[in-house]
Amino acid sequence: MKRTLVLSLMAALIGFACGVKKSTTASVSTGFSAEQIKQAETRFPGVSSAELAEGKKLYESRCSSCHELPHAEKMSQSRWAHEYASMKGKAQLNFAEDRLVNAYVSGILVP
Ligand code: HEC
Repeated sequence: MKRTLVLSLMAALIGFACGVKKSTTASVSTGFSAEQIKQAETRFPGVSSAELAEGKKLYESRCSSCHELPHAEKMSQSRWAHEYASMKGKAQLNFAEDRLVNAYVSGILVP
């Protein structure tokens, strides 16, 4: 009996934690600066701004469902690679989505 109570309390807490998704402060502008595109292109040659916009959408929706949107714009390439490696599975990104997210993020990382 006591155990059931503890379990349901835990379930409620977990549900609560996941439900309280704070609104992100990410920019709403759709345009990318020339620097961002250039930086993204160094790792993803020929990537289009439409693809970057797609990656941005994916990143903002899929990486903010469990916690606030991470500040990739404050991360170095190696820090991002490290964080992303442990989150990739959690976000359940397929091959194409993985590429788009990384293309977008590579444009906003700390150079
Ligand atoms: C299914 C839930 C879930 C999704 C989706 C998810 N994360 Fe996470 N994330 C977590 C949890 C739980 C933690 C804290 C525990 C840990 O580090 O494993 C975390 C921690 C982090 C951290 C470390 C924060 C810190 O304080 O150091 C970063 C960065 C991060 N996530 C980035 C991402 C990115 C980028 C994505 C999208 C690709 C993503 N997360 C998607 C659950 C998730």
